[in-house]
Amino acid sequence: MGNITFTMIKPEAVEAGNSGAILNKIEAAGFRIVAMKKVHLSEERAGSFYEVHKERPFYGELVEYMCGGPIIAAILEKENAVLDFRTLIGATNPSEAAEGTIRAEFAESLAKNAVHGSDSDENASIEADFHFSTSERF
Ligand code: CMP
Repeated sequence: MGNITFTMIKPEAVEAGNSGAILNKIEAAGFRIVAMKKVHLSEERAGSFYEVHKERPFYGELVEYMCGGPIIAAILEKENAVLDFRTLIGATNPSEAAEGTIRAEFAESLAKNAVHGSDSDENASIEADFHFSTSERF
């Protein structure tokens, strides 16, 4: 058993019908799906998830966008999950994302960047707990 990371397929990627292709890449890269759900976040829940960015100028835009349509949330397991997943998705800004990465292929812009990935083991655990109870993990 490896460690975990947390991801969300963001509204524009879900809306565009790219969820399946993105999940395919995630599984092909060796991640095991521990938990997964499609959910439409309320403004309050989206604001709370991104609370760490509250002081950033893009916070309002980020929250509005993330509650603008359903997302797919998932917990992923793999050795070195956090770092390997960040490599798989590429840079936050898709114009800087390496070729072959999920964001290079599917992201529209810095704000609409297709997927979220945890930035540390500690945040992976906090973010997984935010979306999933123990009985929803397999
Ligand atoms: P994510 O990995 O989900 O973590 C925070 C998100 O904020 C990030 O992906 C981007 O979607 C978004 N973000 C970061 N910087 C900016 C920015 N300058 N303008 C708009 N959105 C941003």
